Amino acid sequence: MAAATLSLAAFAATAAYADETLIVGFSQIGSESGWRAAETKVAKSEAEKRGIDLKISDAQQKQENQIKAIRAFAAQGVSAIFIAPVVATGWDSVLREVKDTNIPVFLLDRDIETSDKSLYVAAVTSDTVLEGRMIGDYLTKLTNGKCAIVELQGTVGSSPAINRKKGFEEAIASHPDMKIIRSQSGDFTRSGGKQVMESFIKAENGGKSICAVYAHNDDMAIGAIQAIKEAGLKPGKDILVVSIDGVPDIFKAMAAGEANGTVELSPNMAGPAYDALIALKKSGTTPPKWIQTPSTLFTPDTAEAEYQKRKDLY
Ligand code: AHR
Repeated sequence: MAAATLSLAAFAATAAYADETLIVGFSQIGSESGWRAAETKVAKSEAEKRGIDLKISDAQQKQENQIKAIRAFAAQGVSAIFIAPVVATGWDSVLREVKDTNIPVFLLDRDIETSDKSLYVAAVTSDTVLEGRMIGDYLTKLTNGKCAIVELQGTVGSSPAINRKKGFEEAIASHPDMKIIRSQSGDFTRSGGKQVMESFIKAENGGKSICAVYAHNDDMAIGAIQAIKEAGLKPGKDILVVSIDGVPDIFKAMAAGEANGTVELSPNMAGPAYDALIALKKSGTTPPKWIQTPSTLFTPDTAEAEYQKRKDLY
């Protein structure tokens, strides 16, 4: 009798979940890069696959817009809030408000700095320090440990900009002839990468004293390639180009001999977060705090084939 009562209760809980359409409010950063656009696209298609109602708010790169969107989603009583945090700090107070409503929060692709990890359920991100280390190791091998590097950093204060710098510096630390000679933010955009690279070229003997450019994302690398060409130099040869993301355009550039390596960042951040949310709602399963996505190095030898695989996905 007791068992029958229990299974009835379990059935009722599952049925209640089955009846509920999950509504996810996603505070997206904006559309600064090809990778970001792909992440948004994949978030929509993965939501559709699972019958989730996805509401996206575009913050136009501004944390204040994200905070407004998060408050609005909480007021609407959505089933969960996903946040791709533009910068790492300044989230505690809004997340405390959300916690009081019991709405679960998931972080996508970027981390936050907080002393209270209970403010979010899980973060779905890559290991961004590892990405910097992987591309730094690769460039060190490619140049036999001797290279004057210019660095295009991502958005100031964002976790991937902080960590990709750190990982790269760790990789070159024991190679005294691997030196970052200039470093500035290009804000993860193509135009930012081009503009900053132009100023680096001007300051460095028309680009002749630069061995390589390390860009924290592919879009800035593509902007830099343009700047290198306009300066009359050959990207991928006169100045080596390495970056992170793995968007189709960088594979195209590698296949054309104009870029030398990238570390792929999966655009599917939402899928694992939806699955964790469903498990949480369905059976109360708490996901791991960090759901790590893979990081894979790609080089010019496989670029054409990899481009063909990705070109219609983005
Ligand atoms: O947070 C991930 C980074 O943000 C991607 O590398 C970059 O392209 C994007 O804008």
